[in-house]
Amino acid sequence: MSSPQAEPRVTLVTGSTRGIGHAIARTLARAGHPVVLHGRTEGPVAAAAAALAAETGAKIAAVHGDVADLAAVAAMMREVHRLHRRLDGLVVNAGIHDAGPLGMMSGPAVARLFQVNAVGATHTLQEAVRLLRRGVAPSVVLVSSVMGTKGSPGQAVYGATKAAVAGLTRAAAKELGPAGIRVNAVAPGFVRTAMLASLDDAAARERVRATPLGRLAEPEDVASVVSFLLSDSARFVTGQVIGVDGGVVL
Ligand SMILES: NC(=O)c1ccc[n+]([C@@H]2O[C@H](COP(=O)([O-])OP(=O)(O)OC[C@H]3O[C@@H](n4cnc5c(N)ncnc54)[C@H](OP(=O)(O)O)[C@@H]3O)[C@@H](O)[C@H]2O)c1
Repeated sequence: MSSPQAEPRVTLVTGSTRGIGHAIARTLARAGHPVVLHGRTEGPVAAAAAALAAETGAKIAAVHGDVADLAAVAAMMREVHRLHRRLDGLVVNAGIHDAGPLGMMSGPAVARLFQVNAVGATHTLQEAVRLLRRGVAPSVVLVSSVMGTKGSPGQAVYGATKAAVAGLTRAAAKELGPAGIRVNAVAPGFVRTAMLASLDDAAARERVRATPLGRLAEPEDVASVVSFLLSDSARFVTGQVIGVDGGVVL
């Protein structure tokens, strides 16, 4: 039986101007897959797409829009439809981080975390479903977090948004499985990206100490697991939230 993965797989990676999303996009592009890059605003995503196309020779497109804005997400998906007509892969990665003790997070900060991380992930998946139904062996990977499963002081709100992503993953896997669409998530631990930039040296050392594998994750550590979940090698895996955390949950 020929593997559908031998064919180029059109994949949209949200939040792929930098960090984990960009590492995922680069991994897919290096394997020859057409990738649609995405960020909030047009300039940075166009620049990232041009650089990745020059680096890999892969077909790279760019779409933009705030995932918290349903109309913007719908417009993004119309552009993907115009470009490719289908999606074989979707990575729901765009997200923000904010932290603070309970009682100290402002209303707008709480609302924005949910609006981007939980509502934004939902908008993205909902608006992509029609494109995924036209895809070949379609696979979705959402990016949750160890904070959504384990939690931590100061991370209650962020953790709640990432628990919502895990819940969305499991229900969507049940609902879309009969259509042949697999839906999984990764739950990274502490990954060296701009999101972690506010961590001072002592806090970084503390996180390394709590991690059995003895280091922070690199974005590529997450990208290789996402790439596996998108591929035919994971063809009987759905509804899972896979920790990519060096054992920090243990
Ligand atoms: N770093 C970690 O330790 C860690 C751990 C666990 C989970 N995660 C999760 O992994 C994902 C990626 O994180 P990262 O560390 O790579 O972050 P990052 O370096 O800050 O990158 C975030 C990406 O998301 C995009 N983005 C942010 N808000 C957006 C919005 N409202 N609409 C559209 N795009 C938006 C950004 O694009 P522009 O700024 O160009 O718009 C950027 O491309 C997030 O969901 C995060 O919660 C990260």
